[in-house]
Amino acid sequence: MMLAPLVAVGSAKVIPALAGEDVMAVEAIAVSTDAEDGTSIEPAIVAVARATSIAVRRLRTTRLRNDIFDPPRLWGERDSGRRCCKGTTDTQPPGPEPVVCRPVVRYWGMRIFFTGGSGKAGKHVVAHLAEQGHQVTNIDLVALGHPGVADLRVDLTDAGETYSALAGLATLEELDLPEKPTYDAVVHFAAVPRIGLTSDTATYAANVLSTYNVLEAATRLGVNKIVFASSETTYGICFAQGDRRPDYVPIDEEHPTVPEDAYAMSKVAGEVTARSFQARTGTDIYGLRINNVIEPHEYAEIFPAFLHDPALRRRNVFAYIDARDLGQMVQRCLETDGLGYEVFNVANADMSVAATTGEILDRFYDGVPVRREMGRDETFYAIDKARDLLGFEPHHSWRDVLADPATVG
Ligand SMILES: NC(=O)c1ccc[n+]([C@@H]2O[C@H](COP(=O)([O-])OP(=O)(O)OC[C@H]3O[C@@H](n4cnc5c(N)ncnc54)[C@H](O)[C@@H]3O)[C@@H](O)[C@H]2O)c1
Repeated sequence: MMLAPLVAVGSAKVIPALAGEDVMAVEAIAVSTDAEDGTSIEPAIVAVARATSIAVRRLRTTRLRNDIFDPPRLWGERDSGRRCCKGTTDTQPPGPEPVVCRPVVRYWGMRIFFTGGSGKAGKHVVAHLAEQGHQVTNIDLVALGHPGVADLRVDLTDAGETYSALAGLATLEELDLPEKPTYDAVVHFAAVPRIGLTSDTATYAANVLSTYNVLEAATRLGVNKIVFASSETTYGICFAQGDRRPDYVPIDEEHPTVPEDAYAMSKVAGEVTARSFQARTGTDIYGLRINNVIEPHEYAEIFPAFLHDPALRRRNVFAYIDARDLGQMVQRCLETDGLGYEVFNVANADMSVAATTGEILDRFYDGVPVRREMGRDETFYAIDKARDLLGFEPHHSWRDVLADPATVG
């Protein structure tokens, strides 16, 4: 098949915020002279796109350090670009008239090693990242089967398997690349996700060992960005024996993390290990203290009970995170470089109950210090840090699906 050369053009139209910056390529345009089949140009698209991605991420790091980084604006404007062009830019080299115009590949794409993508939270995050144009390999004990996402069955408690998978190919198509690809990022979600599924010792061992293996392999193999799932349980409230209340509200990332259960201990150990690997290598490693993950279908299924009886949500400090917003949070972490080691609370901005913040304070948190003025329905699980450093802003709420009982006559 005859191919016109690929061209990559800077596009001030797509991303005005980047205009005039030293970015070689922010948009890849693939032009084929073959009307029938353009599939074999994919590897070349990936190569251009990865160069593009690296250039843009470098720029973003600079902007962050200069305090002029503006993720929401950048993100919003990114999506407003045109989807297709006919290869008529003046930077296109002379050659045969192109007869096929493939869609613009807006590939801020990273090649991502995603662990635990077959699980409740992971499958939504994987889908979100694939939707954004990232090339995701799902590493799990069971396959996900998402179109466009490679599945590799790997037991991450085995260090050899972990290294091998991270150093290896994701798909047979990657054999056609000029050289073996490496991963740009690791997102580590695989875990035993709570106590009560297996013995405490097995839960702790699986989580601590798999997290160590992933962190060691990723840093030794030179991956530049690692995002890992920690948990709200690190604050010790969720799986406490009896009633345990926060030391203060809203709970921010400075709140003590001294849990008494095996699962949360494994997550605290994961954070300590991640911080040490960051200190050893300088790699950006961000931990997500994820609140209770809610899938879209669960609003209709389980939220009516929460609205009726807020006590059901006491162990989650009345908070939640929509799985789609969790996808946005991971995306923000992947797009934001240069923070070193950080942990972030991840929750929705409102509560998972109908009672107001003031009503919950009166009923459940009498005597708990309230450190700042709080909104009417504001979560006790502070997301200020994620907002400030990453531009995270949740978009989904149970209120989109269910009526607030207080407003129903
Ligand atoms: N679901 C929540 O509400 C919640 C809240 C806070 C934190 N988290 C954390 O988020 C992550 C995802 O949670 P989830 O609810 O999707 O859990 P899940 O159990 O639904 O998914 C976990 C996935 O990890 C895989 N896995 C487990 N052990 C593995 C191993 N040794 N090797 C390879 N794969 C392995 C499982 O097969 C599964 O697909 C976990 O780290 C969990 O601790 C979840």
